[in-house]
Amino acid sequence: MDWYIPLGFLSVRKDDIIPPELEIFLNAIPVIDSLFSRRCVWVNGPVIVGAGPSGLAVGACLREQGVPFVVLEKADCIASLWQKRTYDRLKLHLPKKFCQLPKLAFPEDFPEYPSKKQFIDYLESYAKHFEINPQFNECVESAKYDEACRLWRVKTVSTNGSTRTEVEYICQWLVVATGENAECVKPEIEGLEEFEGEVVHACEYKSGKQFSGKRVLVVGCGNSGMELALDLCNHNAKPSMVVRSSVHVLPREIFGKSTFELAVTMMKWIPLWLVDKILLILSWLILGSTEKYGLKRPSIGPLELKNREGKTPVLDIGALQKIRSGEIKVVPGIKRFSGGMVDLVNGEKLEIDSVVLATGYRSNVPYWLQETEFFAKNGFPKTTITNRWKGNAGLYAVGFTRKGLSGASFDATRIAQDIGNVWKEDLKQKKQKVPCHRRCISQF
Ligand SMILES: Cc1cc2nc3c(=O)[nH]c(=O)nc-3n(C[C@H](O)[C@H](O)[C@H](O)COP(=O)(O)OP(=O)(O)OC[C@H]3O[C@@H](n4cnc5c(N)ncnc54)[C@H](O)[C@@H]3O)c2cc1C
Ligand SMILES: NC(=O)c1ccc[n+]([C@@H]2O[C@H](COP(=O)([O-])OP(=O)(O)OC[C@H]3O[C@@H](n4cnc5c(N)ncnc54)[C@H](OP(=O)(O)O)[C@@H]3O)[C@@H](O)[C@H]2O)c1
Repeated sequence: MDWYIPLGFLSVRKDDIIPPELEIFLNAIPVIDSLFSRRCVWVNGPVIVGAGPSGLAVGACLREQGVPFVVLEKADCIASLWQKRTYDRLKLHLPKKFCQLPKLAFPEDFPEYPSKKQFIDYLESYAKHFEINPQFNECVESAKYDEACRLWRVKTVSTNGSTRTEVEYICQWLVVATGENAECVKPEIEGLEEFEGEVVHACEYKSGKQFSGKRVLVVGCGNSGMELALDLCNHNAKPSMVVRSSVHVLPREIFGKSTFELAVTMMKWIPLWLVDKILLILSWLILGSTEKYGLKRPSIGPLELKNREGKTPVLDIGALQKIRSGEIKVVPGIKRFSGGMVDLVNGEKLEIDSVVLATGYRSNVPYWLQETEFFAKNGFPKTTITNRWKGNAGLYAVGFTRKGLSGASFDATRIAQDIGNVWKEDLKQKKQKVPCHRRCISQF
């Protein structure tokens, strides 16, 4: 960070214009923090937490607005979910036009459904194009709005071998971009801890190669569960997939057109419930009844369910055919694991070698953000809030509306516009007051 000038324990960038809030902070902080060796950094502009697609999209839009920013990322690379926590055969499951980030389209030669590698390549070139250089290996452990100073105080920890470094970033705006899938959900199931075979979560699964010839229990039937069961089949493993409740399975395409695109188009003209009805009729015509294979449909339609509970419908890319042929066995909920066996709620017992938990993800916001007005306990912005990308006191959230990459792009554009407007206005006013603030800093 050679572009910061250290002022005692505080670092300020050479050309920064110091707002009045920082003066208040400077007056208060020696009393509060002099006991600690933590370094403080004043960020001229917003701090963005997370360098996934959402954080990068906000960075790109801010760059266009001429607003400087700092991106803090706990991993050692951008898009760590895609680079480190997804399986090899993954492809975007929505057409590319719904997955590209603002201001830079996918290369023209990309297929309709880009592969994980292509998507990562795109994100790398996106970060380069907009000169987004995150501070890697810095995990945000807490962020709190300081009412007295009217500034955000964001504390990070980075560890390098046995060295642990703590930094506190001080800023006017905080953009939460840590994602809906920050933590793996690993349910507690009786006997699972003692199970002798391999147990992996979907975020650790790379390929079915290592499971060849094995009897694998896939727990969960979302897009991950379905696709991992298919991958296991393709690598000569014997998967059984646990379906404990119900699931909407839709074809990825209907009459050659993406189901998602068809739904988006219909929603412009007709109500959601009617779109759901049409989708279900068309799915039935293409896939037939899924219920007879143990895949009971929820009582509410796929889009309404997504809106109400955030549950994503499965877009089938071949698993259903393997279920029909019996290569993937559908089984009901789990009662307990015992030895190398699993007892199911219907009384059936299965011998298994390995378990893949495709049991989903959760937000990690409640672990580090000390704020309860905007974010609910589940780590998502409260559903009662209209603009779910904007909180109070300079707090923003990107990528938390359960609308995938297109939702993140929408949020990013609005956030950057909002901050950009205030930034430009502030700049005008603060420039006139520069001598006073510069004086304050140099005295410190
Ligand atoms: C297997 C899988 C496939 C998917 N496929 C699609 C798809 O095809 N289309 C689609 O639209 N969506 C898809 N999604 C949804 C997915 O969440 C989005 O595509 C996208 O990754 C969201 O971007 P994000 O930046 O909001 O979150 P993430 O990609 O999760 O990025 C968040 C970043 O924040 C960092 N971070 C987290 N906590 C901290 C912290 N405390 N301090 C510092 N950094 C932190 C993480 O390391 C990470 O790099 C998929 C999700 C999964 C799990
Ligand atoms: N691009 C792609 O192709 C792709 C691939 C994978 C994932 N994704 C996306 O990634 C996100 C996460 O998907 P996901 O499939 O990982 O998670 P998910 O949609 O949250 O599904 C989790 C599944 O686990 C089940 N489950 C949870 N706990 C269980 C337990 N104790 N016993 C039995 N079953 C249990 C759930 O059942 P209940 O419904 O009963 O709770 C559900 O079927 C989604 O947005 C998805 O669309 C995209």
